[in-house]
Amino acid sequence: MTKASKRDADRVLIFDTTLRDGEQSPGASMTLEEKLAIAELLDEMGVDIIEAGFPIASEGDFEAVSEIARRARQAVICGLARAQFGDIDRCWEAVRHARRPRIHTFIGTSPLHRAIPKLDQDQMAERIHETVSHARNLCDNVQWSPMDATRTEHDYLCRVVEIAIRAGATTINIPDTVGYTAPRESAALIGMLIERVPGADEVVFATHCHDDLGMATANALAAVEAGARQIECTVNGLGERAGNTALEEVVMALKVRHDIMPFHTGVDTTRLMQASRMVAAASGFPVQFNKAVVGKNAFAHESGIHQDGMLKDSQTFEIMRPEDVGLSESNLVMGKHSGRHALRKKLEALGYELGDNQLRDVFVRFKALADRKKEVYDEDLVALMEVEASSAANERIRVSALRVICGTEGPQTADLTLEIDGEPKSVHATGDGPVDATFNAVKALVPHPEAKLELYQVHAVTEGTDAQATVSVRLAEEGRIAAGQSADTDTVVASAKAYVNALNKLMVRRSKSAPDALSA
Ligand code: KIV
Ligand code: ZN
Repeated sequence: MTKASKRDADRVLIFDTTLRDGEQSPGASMTLEEKLAIAELLDEMGVDIIEAGFPIASEGDFEAVSEIARRARQAVICGLARAQFGDIDRCWEAVRHARRPRIHTFIGTSPLHRAIPKLDQDQMAERIHETVSHARNLCDNVQWSPMDATRTEHDYLCRVVEIAIRAGATTINIPDTVGYTAPRESAALIGMLIERVPGADEVVFATHCHDDLGMATANALAAVEAGARQIECTVNGLGERAGNTALEEVVMALKVRHDIMPFHTGVDTTRLMQASRMVAAASGFPVQFNKAVVGKNAFAHESGIHQDGMLKDSQTFEIMRPEDVGLSESNLVMGKHSGRHALRKKLEALGYELGDNQLRDVFVRFKALADRKKEVYDEDLVALMEVEASSAANERIRVSALRVICGTEGPQTADLTLEIDGEPKSVHATGDGPVDATFNAVKALVPHPEAKLELYQVHAVTEGTDAQATVSVRLAEEGRIAAGQSADTDTVVASAKAYVNALNKLMVRRSKSAPDALSA
């Protein structure tokens, strides 16, 4: 029995690491504003612990963890630190502002990982004792992780877990760092540790799974059945390589299958869609259509038999209700005659609470969209809101006007006017296709020769030839990565705006090292 289980045997803590492990996804880096907004939502929706970053990794991470710590209301705020005093001190400096701070320190314990710092088993055991004790002297909430636990010899794993507990760790996390384990083995490992390690009943055991073999959710749930009471996960399963356990999947699995997994979390599931959309927009990683729980098709029914069944009784083909995950019940279509009040109600149903000023701005954009598009669906409004959120901050460049000429006779051309720091600037450019011509025009007006276009993706928001397109763009420049998004009924206009959105974010990152980077 774990400490948590003495208090509430069925309560599973949700530890979200979207802002740390999730952000480690190549290309998923987020701005400070985006991280603050995500952390605020996670806190509001009842996530127990937010791993806000890796404070020693960069100034940006340090700033984000400190600011999230200052603003958090309810959640424990955690920072990651390697098994080094300097890392742990820096982590404490950042999380100490939180009402409920936690230091999370880790070291790789498997034979492969022990070989990297060239520590033998005894030397590593000593390092674990020293660093966990040091962390515990700073903070009374300490989590310790033996990285690559699932490939660590069992006897050695028991030995180091015991050392960490004796040194003061309050949570022991068991990472399946490379997504190697399978459900039965995941359960057996947690069960073995709880049974064999002295002091195991004094700590909470956590499970941290990666999805390399597509088993992260199953492995996490199996670990809970064996006694783990903390699941580490990320929104949309974002994370290194194939990602981490998806928060929305474990939370909904525990809710829907409470009959066979009698555990509960503190998460308000009606905020899951909102969290998914926010993380997708901030990271620039769109959610796959058939993604469990939050995918666009998760509640769509295409075949005649399914549609017929749904009309007679929705339980025929739905094991959870759309509204349980925050999808509005009706897909009432809005149009150019819809008023401000109706828009506010609709946005509230979609999970967006707006102040009067913000509603005024959004209403103007909604009307512009409704003028071009007969029917404005929920998905259109979500795209509009996400673009609004991702473009609100730090916009030095805006797209003012764009005209492209394309067709079978090349070269395609773009006439583009950008407003740069309030000044209109225009250019004519050519390219291999209208999007290429448009991007060349942006490059001519705002030269950024070192930046590489890493990703360009277009998605239709709804069906039909007048559908809005959402465009994601990712730029990489000397290790800095910036993702931009936009939506428009004109794909080329959406592309220009998404590119400029990414460029604005890139400049914010650059400006931390060179204040006047625009002219550089
Ligand atoms: O996957 C992993 O091992 C990690 C640790 C740092 C907990 O993310
Ligand atoms: Zn991980």
